[in-house]
Amino acid sequence: MDRFIIEGGSKLSGEIAVSGAKNATLPVMAATILAAGEFKLENIPNLIDIKLMGHLIRMLGARVEHEEGRMYIDTTNLDGWEAPYELVSKMRASIYVLGPLLARFGKAKVSFPGGCAIGTRPVDLHLMAMEKLGATITIEHGYIIAECEKLVGADITFRKVSVGATANSLMAAVLAEGETNLYNCAIEPEIQSFVEFLIQMGADIKGVGTSHLCIKGVPKLNSVKAEMLSDRIEAGTFLIAGAITRSEITITNCVPNHLGEFFDKLKLAGCGFDIMGNMITIKPGEIINPVNIKTAPFPEYPTDLQAQFMALMTLSSGESVIEEGIFPDRFTHAAELNRLDANIKVDGNLARVRGVKQLSGAPVMATDLRASAALVLAGLAAQGTTEISRIYHIDRGYESFEHKLTSLGANIKRLKG
Ligand code: UD1
Repeated sequence: MDRFIIEGGSKLSGEIAVSGAKNATLPVMAATILAAGEFKLENIPNLIDIKLMGHLIRMLGARVEHEEGRMYIDTTNLDGWEAPYELVSKMRASIYVLGPLLARFGKAKVSFPGGCAIGTRPVDLHLMAMEKLGATITIEHGYIIAECEKLVGADITFRKVSVGATANSLMAAVLAEGETNLYNCAIEPEIQSFVEFLIQMGADIKGVGTSHLCIKGVPKLNSVKAEMLSDRIEAGTFLIAGAITRSEITITNCVPNHLGEFFDKLKLAGCGFDIMGNMITIKPGEIINPVNIKTAPFPEYPTDLQAQFMALMTLSSGESVIEEGIFPDRFTHAAELNRLDANIKVDGNLARVRGVKQLSGAPVMATDLRASAALVLAGLAAQGTTEISRIYHIDRGYESFEHKLTSLGANIKRLKG
């Protein structure tokens, strides 16, 4: 398994371009199942999770080619309807094929996604929505088996805001007979761009960007060309790289509006910003102020930038409280950050971070995607050498992470094997 070796303490400078967003690309790839035809997708990140989704759609019978930021998907001969355990266990987002398979074939068999390093992650909202739309769901031998004669529009209220359940329900509803109203939907930028993608395919959806989506089913959708959104979580991670190393860096190809409350929190931490179009330059202060955050659905603070912010807070001038409002157990990085001499105490879904003067390098282990990014950020600021094992998590969600950091002047190397 590959490892990162980081020599901390280098100042960063320069500019990097943010890649396409994994979380915007995955539902789009699943939605290609809804139409028989050729899709051309641009700004596709080169990531393990994207390859896994490509593999899954290929197994269902599509032709998938992925090269240099472009993806070609031909779903003309797609006729499979089963997502096996081997793939779903590697990537939970495989559940995204449930809605479109049901809509296209009236049946789907998808392995039940288990828990993961960030805690239990149920799929009850996905299943509730499919049932409301007319599917019969049975669970057999670890598989979700969904069947229907036809899907029929319904009123569905999510008890909790869910990105995945919103996307999956949309894919089932766009070809259902009649009108579907989805209430309490996620309004994350990735969902907004996904709705726009479905509309481009010919779907009739009202309420883009709001928590109430009204879908009028259409008989058929078309294949299209589309460009993926840039990755706000990658953008945020690099901004924190600037903040934690007290370095002025510029990120391009990003959408500043998509950073929501994250910006406000970095400002409170003492950072200034120059924003010009799709370019942000961070101007960190010398002192990192302690700032409290609570993760919540967009536009509030994103859970996918919680671990990275915790890394920043380990070097603040006081105590900050981090409350995880989405995945209560998402704190595995705290113990690893403490190995670098951070002072973090976790109590349920709260973490109290008392800032220290200096982090010091140590061997640590990456436990999930964003936790791994937090360890890299801490390693960049720590004194001495930090060795991070199990970095395959990073390759799931950050394109060319170490190359981008090296181009900014960081001292980070990948050791193979
Ligand atoms: C997506 C993102 C992930 C991000 C998360 C929250 C993708 C591929 N992944 O994950 O990076 O961290 O949104 O912004 O886009 N829940 C239920 N029942 C369900 C579904 C969800 O109780 O059926 C709960 C979850 O446990 C969690 C909350 O709802 O507490 C939000 O989860 P959700 O938005 O569904 O996360 P994902 O779509 O899995």
